[in-house]
Amino acid sequence: MNEIGTPLLRQSAVQRCLAPECAAQYSLRERIYVCRRCGSPLEIDCAWKAPAGDLSLREQWEARAASDDPVDRSGVWRYRELLPIPAEAQIVTLSEGNTPVYDAPRSAEYAGLARLRLKHLGCNPTGSFKDAGMTVAVTQAVLLGARTLVCASTGNTAASLAAYAARAGIACAILVPRGQISAAKLAQSMDYGAAVLEIEGNFDDSMRLVQELAADPEIYLANSINPFRIEGQKTVAFELLQQCKWLAPDHVVVPGGNLGNSSALAKGFAELLRLGLIRRLPKLHVVQAEGAAPLAHLYAELIASKTRRDPSSIPRRIAPVEHPQTLATAIKIGAPVSWQKSLRGILESGGQVLTVSEPEIADAKAIIGRDGVGCEPASATTLAGIRKLVVGKVIGAEDSVVAVLTGHILKDPDYVTHYHQGTLALPSRSKGEPQPADTLSGSFRNPPERVAPAREAILALLDKRQKRAVPSGARG
Ligand code: F0G
Repeated sequence: MNEIGTPLLRQSAVQRCLAPECAAQYSLRERIYVCRRCGSPLEIDCAWKAPAGDLSLREQWEARAASDDPVDRSGVWRYRELLPIPAEAQIVTLSEGNTPVYDAPRSAEYAGLARLRLKHLGCNPTGSFKDAGMTVAVTQAVLLGARTLVCASTGNTAASLAAYAARAGIACAILVPRGQISAAKLAQSMDYGAAVLEIEGNFDDSMRLVQELAADPEIYLANSINPFRIEGQKTVAFELLQQCKWLAPDHVVVPGGNLGNSSALAKGFAELLRLGLIRRLPKLHVVQAEGAAPLAHLYAELIASKTRRDPSSIPRRIAPVEHPQTLATAIKIGAPVSWQKSLRGILESGGQVLTVSEPEIADAKAIIGRDGVGCEPASATTLAGIRKLVVGKVIGAEDSVVAVLTGHILKDPDYVTHYHQGTLALPSRSKGEPQPADTLSGSFRNPPERVAPAREAILALLDKRQKRAVPSGARG
């Protein structure tokens, strides 16, 4: 833990109720997650003193990346002027952020684009984008003197919280739907020493339970309903734009589950625009899996009505998906908590919400692999979604596009091996065991091949593979 040590430019900051007709305010030191008056979500609202010129702010952020101080080097705390944490705070960091932006020519070709960049948040310390939010949430938990940290999770939030709680020396309990999260994610939480609580039910049941637990004053809730999580995650927008030399891409595409990530990116882009660090917002598109797509359903209804592009007329309710289904278990969520913030950001930017099918996700994931990058299934919804948006002419072939990859390929190795071996069982529509017909037959399978332990046999096999090789775009 280190001290920030730099004066902040922030003048004042509050937690504010998202509902415009309520707009209740709470101090940053209140341990609160939804508005006490009306139950709506909260967000942090900062008023900044005009910085001494945006160039100096940018230069300072760039200089910090080369510093020896872990807080300066962190891809989150480097942007601390825009975070609602006081200068005297003890920062809980694992050197999060500083994640790469890759050019992905095969993925670009597959999607019908001249160029595609992948911002890989799976290169964070615990292998997912959650770390950017968790460093801030756990730092806030230390400030508040929390005794126990809790979260509900499809696996990545849990792994991240478990790691940061361990760094801070605070007890931690994670609630996960039993049998529905990847073994690799569960393994992380066990190793970081969290109480791993397997719940009968799905993610949405776990989410309801942790909100009940969080009524206890000694328990601190670290899901993205906590606005401090969103504050950390918004720095991904800052780092991405810094990597893009402050030229906003035309489109940024992200997966949607509980919808904290898209909310955070939207907030980050909006703050950069407000500070004059970018000239326009990128269009923010959110992609959901067909079987777990409550926001896409709501968005489709808005399109059908006239309110589609009016961010001030966000509906009061979202219809939950009762039994969400997808093999991309990270986003198997039917009742997302941050849908209002996410939808507002999407509409303000002129982006869209769309769905992709299980085969589309699986094939897109394999193509991202062929770029030498790799990601977990939920992340691949981005490439599948971009491909659809290009076909629909929402994205032009020459547009600048960034796909946000949210998790590392090793987060879900079972999915990968089943895909390549042709044994990936589709989520069954009935309650029974999946039938053989329900197995996904991927277009880019690359199973292991048995070969005799002889030089000639190996060379012949490699020769056969060479002849089979076809450019990805031609096969897609
Ligand atoms: N991608 C990955 C790899 C995720 O783990 C998640 C969410 C998402 C995308 C969706 O992001 O929820 O902010 O819209 N995982 C949560 C978890 C729910 O518990 O790990 P979101």
